Amino acid sequence: MNTNTNKNLAIFASGTGSNALKIIEHLKGKSVNIYVFSNKKNAPVIEKARAQNVTATYFNRAEFQDSQQLLAHLKGLKIDLVVLAGFLWKIPDHIISAFPQQMINLHPSLLPKYGGKGMYGAKVHQAVLEAGEQKSGITIHYVNEYYDDGEILLQAETDITMGETPESLAQKIHHLEHHHLPVLVEKLLFQA
Ligand code: GRF
Repeated sequence: MNTNTNKNLAIFASGTGSNALKIIEHLKGKSVNIYVFSNKKNAPVIEKARAQNVTATYFNRAEFQDSQQLLAHLKGLKIDLVVLAGFLWKIPDHIISAFPQQMINLHPSLLPKYGGKGMYGAKVHQAVLEAGEQKSGITIHYVNEYYDDGEILLQAETDITMGETPESLAQKIHHLEHHHLPVLVEKLLFQA
């Protein structure tokens, strides 16, 4: 962590970016510089961030995986915390190891269930419902070199009700995410 009072937060997101927006809104007025990164040029998250005067950058796969450029950029920004908020690419090991206990991921199930490679978005909710689970939820965890595997920081549950669909479950999950993630991000940034 840098020792200045001003913190630097990177949010990686691939799509809609509702969680990124909630974090940005929650941190308004706090001593945090926020930088949004996306792997999709036209991801709505980029527009959303810029509308909040947050710098939003796009990178392609080569820039992401093959070079030290992104890492150098993050280090140059003195990033204290990286939040993967709906980010679909696996983070290269050299970036993970550069941010020990400084990178967290949001996953829309109660890990270790329904995690791992290929388990994202509607596929997760579909699998949960097909298995006849009575509850689902969210997990926020530190990122290590395996998919959805690092130390768990927070879990929150929701009941699965009669006639639940992947769409209705996704809504409940988003509600939990929007409630918990911004608060945890603030705590991690300003603790210690
Ligand atoms: C969230 O449900 C998150 O758990 C998952 O992707 C979704 C992203 O939603 N990994 P949004 O882009 O923040 O709206």
